[in-house]
Amino acid sequence: MTDLPAFIRGLPKAELHLHIEGSLEPELMFALAARNGVAIPYGSVEEVRAAYSFSRLQDFLDIYYAGADVLRTAADFRDLALAYFARVAADGVVHAEIMFDPQTHTARGVPFGTVIEGLLSAMAEAEAKHGISSALIMCFLRHLSEEDAFATLRAAEPWLPRIAAVGLDSSELGHPPAKFARVFAEARRRGLRLVAHAGEEGPPEYVREALDLLGVDRLDHGNRSLEDPGLVARLARTGMTLTVCPLSNLKLCVVDDMADHPIDRMLREGLRATVNSDDPAYFGGYVADNYLAAAEARGLDRRDLAALARNSFLGSFLPDEAVAAHLARLDAYLAAA
Ligand code: HPA
Ligand code: ZN
Repeated sequence: MTDLPAFIRGLPKAELHLHIEGSLEPELMFALAARNGVAIPYGSVEEVRAAYSFSRLQDFLDIYYAGADVLRTAADFRDLALAYFARVAADGVVHAEIMFDPQTHTARGVPFGTVIEGLLSAMAEAEAKHGISSALIMCFLRHLSEEDAFATLRAAEPWLPRIAAVGLDSSELGHPPAKFARVFAEARRRGLRLVAHAGEEGPPEYVREALDLLGVDRLDHGNRSLEDPGLVARLARTGMTLTVCPLSNLKLCVVDDMADHPIDRMLREGLRATVNSDDPAYFGGYVADNYLAAAEARGLDRRDLAALARNSFLGSFLPDEAVAAHLARLDAYLAAA
């Protein structure tokens, strides 16, 4: 029998919660800074990594938005995404639904088209080179206005057929889902799927708003739902997918210790939980590292890990036939493992 890390890496899986800007490794940050003549406030890769110590979401966001400043050209976005795909090919990722934050770039004068064309080019190459399929989730920054989100949706117009979903990220507290109900309704009218970060730092009420006012198809994080038994029952009954990110939760102090992580409780309560990396360059691990950290801290067995991988396909935006094909491949892997 293979050891646990090898079992996890071999498990076919989808990643559903990944901010592509959060996959910017310090080495690439330096390379792009040099290529574009951008000054960065760090002297070395070690200094960058040492700065990655956070006690809340906002500490991270400040550094993450600053890091994104080195991304200027379509080639930069392409190289960023190519590095992500190459890395997760080794983690057993066969499908990735990738979030990007256009406002972080358009606010610096980088056109929407530059960002998305770079990403689309890498996605085509990932399919050809690694056999990884992917889809794009365009996130609105919730600390900005509703009007700014509408302007972003308008800027995306020529590329809407290439975008699977819209999402909602950035500073959660003080920016409840209700603020974006109208722009999400417009995105729905355009045929887009809907996701939102909710219940990472925000209360269960924000999760209810994401369900009732935004009508999300999937919840990002959702941890604090566990404080509300009625909400847990509803999420379980409706088969709502939660994109849980264990190493992110630890680094952003959503949990104090991995030993306290609720991933096994989520499965036990019948929630369709998945495991994801969120911002792997900042939080110390890619998706397989997240499976392993959760498994070691909470004693997940191979059946639990397989359930998480199964949920990743069931919760994806892939067509039913593709989901069925991935589940068959997963079953074949488990039968042989
Ligand atoms: N939460 C909110 N916004 C984000 C995150 C997150 O975990 N990662 C990148 N943007
Ligand atoms: Zn996130």
